[in-house]
Order: sequence, then C-alpha cells, then structure tokens
Amino acid sequence: MQFDFEHLSRSERYKLMASVITPRPIAWVTTLNPAGMLNAAPFSFFNMFGDDPPIVALGIMQRAGGQLKDTAANIRSGKAFVVNIAGEAQAVAMNDTSIDAPEGTDEAALFNVEVLPSERVAPPRIASVPASFECRLQQIVEVSETQSIVIGEVVYGHVRDEFIVDADKMRLNVDAMRLIGRMHGPGYYARTTDLFDLRRPVWPLDRD
Ligand SMILES: Cc1cc2nc3c(=O)[nH]c(=O)nc-3n(C[C@H](O)[C@H](O)[C@H](O)COP(=O)(O)O)c2cc1C
Repeated sequence: MQFDFEHLSRSERYKLMASVITPRPIAWVTTLNPAGMLNAAPFSFFNMFGDDPPIVALGIMQRAGGQLKDTAANIRSGKAFVVNIAGEAQAVAMNDTSIDAPEGTDEAALFNVEVLPSERVAPPRIASVPASFECRLQQIVEVSETQSIVIGEVVYGHVRDEFIVDADKMRLNVDAMRLIGRMHGPGYYARTTDLFDLRRPVWPLDRD
C-alpha cells in the first residue's frame, strides 16, 4: 500500500512515521524557566547529528491549544538544556514526566526525580541516568507554526562511573546502561539488549 502525504491527516502522518521510524532514542530534557523553576520532559524526535561541532537536535511540537511546550519556551529564554539519557531503571519516571502538566509545573519534583548541578549550563541534570549531555542552544529552525527543531551544541558530558570501562579509549559498558528506545503506539518502548554485530565492509572487498 502507498500513502500520499498530501492526503493524510496530521494524526495519520504521525502514526505512519512514528510506527516505522523506530526505535528512537529519547532525550529526557531538563530546562529552567526565567524564574529558575525546573522542567523535565522526554522527547523522542531526537538524535545526534555530528561531532564537529557535537550537535544534537530535538523536534518539539506545540501543545494541542497552540502554546509552546515548557521545554521549548525555556530553551528559547535560557538558551540551554540538558539531554539526559534514561536506562530501563528510569523508564517509569521518564514516562511520568511527559504528563501534560500546567505551565510552570516542576515534573521532576512531582515524580521525585533527583537532580544535580550542571557544570557549564544553568539547567541541572538528572542524577540517576547513565549519561547526560549539557547543551547550549545553537539555533532553532521554525519548521512551521506548530513545530520547531531545536539544535544544541553539547558542551559537557557526564557518564556514571560504574559504566566507564576505559576512559582513555572512551570505552563504556553500554550493555550495563540498559538504554531504551521509543517504539510505535502511545506506550511502547524497546530494550537494547538483543544486539547483533555487523562490521562495515572495507575496500577492496574481500569476500569469497
Ligand atoms: C517517550 C516520549 C517521547 C516524546 N517525544 C516527544 C517529541 O519528540 N516531541 C514532542 O513535542 N513531544 C514529545 N513527547 C511529549 C512530551 O513529553 C509532552 O508533551 C510533555 O508534556 C512536554 O512537557 P513540557 O511542556 O514540560 O515541555 C514525548 C512523550 C513521551 C512519553
């Protein structure tokens, strides 16, 4: 079956793309509003887009009523955010903080998510996660009236000591992090525990 996106509704487009473009990594984003109040929310329209400079991006939709989500408003005003990468142990708390709470709600406090100060940016990071990346806003691409792509430059990283194998070689025990991804449907997540290994071919090709 084929689908012409010109004739799909917004929710059909979302369902089709979000079902198949999986698994998606999840940025559990912490920001501060101008009054210094903390905000935490997950975003799976997220990935890294390069290392020189080290770039991440978030796709942020507006709320149903047309207002900016707190994360989007806080990044606009504070020009910084922290991407926290949750493992399975933080899945429930991460998912809880997606609650559509009134503006200015501190979802981290609501769900007892402990935070620690960041080193280079004002928003704090989440204490329990395997890794966090402090980001400065690089630019916001206003894709349409209802969605924007926030591009951030990573300026500082944290990995919990228990996951470091060899810091000089930047070898991490990623298996032990039990990282998770976003899948299709409203509530499905994936574990990253069923892996297989395929090396990139090297030229000249040497296969029997
Ligand atoms: C796993 C997960 C991934 C999500 N990804 C996105 C996303 O990429 N973009 C988005 O706009 N909302 C996404 N949401 C919804 C937001 O987390 C939700 O709207 C949240 O209330 C925003 O909070 P804020 O207003 O405090 O920023 C996601 C929710 C979940 C549970």
